[in-house]
Formats: sequence, C-alpha cells, structure tokens
Amino acid sequence: MSSPYEKKLEMSLIPSITDTTNQVWIEFNGLCFLGNKQHVLLEQLKEQGIEIPYSCRAGICRVCQIKIIIGEVKTLTQDAMDKDGNIISCCCIPKGNLKLSD
Ligand code: FES
Repeated sequence: MSSPYEKKLEMSLIPSITDTTNQVWIEFNGLCFLGNKQHVLLEQLKEQGIEIPYSCRAGICRVCQIKIIIGEVKTLTQDAMDKDGNIISCCCIPKGNLKLSD
C-alpha cells in the first residue's frame, strides 16, 4: 500500500503529461504514439506512417472513417461522428487520450 505522499506524487505526475501541454496518447490498432490536441487525426496518423484510406479530406466522402474505442474528440463538422463511435478522421481532433481502430 502506498503512503499518502507516494499517492500524491503519483497523481501529480499523470496530469503533467496531458494537462499542461497539447500532447495526448493515441493508440491505433495497438500502435501507440504521442499526438496532439491541435491537428486532425488523419494527419496525425499519416505522420506516424499509419496509412488509412482517404480522398476528399473535407468530411464529404467518409473514406477516412475509423472507430473510437476509448476517448473523446472535437468534431469539425456536424456529422463527423455517429452514435456507434465511428468518426471521420479528417474532421476530428483529439480532446484527450484516444484508443482507435480501423
Ligand atoms: S477523406 Fe473524405 S471524409 Fe475524410
């Protein structure tokens, strides 16, 4: 069992990674990388060498659709997310840590 001091230290370390910066952890199909809260998911996945299909990059074709398993995103268009957690990756920005799949 950890002491109150150790518990406080543990808690203080976790937010320092995600709350004071725009950095977030993103997991896609089991591959984990450090992303951000500023750019759309499609671009962040491409920067990591993760190739997902896309075409218009404007929220029209829905070719870039992926699924949120855990986490939340900011949507840039009204229909960028459906009730089943499917999102258009070219129109969504992470709000925090995310677990995604194709
Ligand atoms: S690439 Fe067309 S909706 Fe994302």
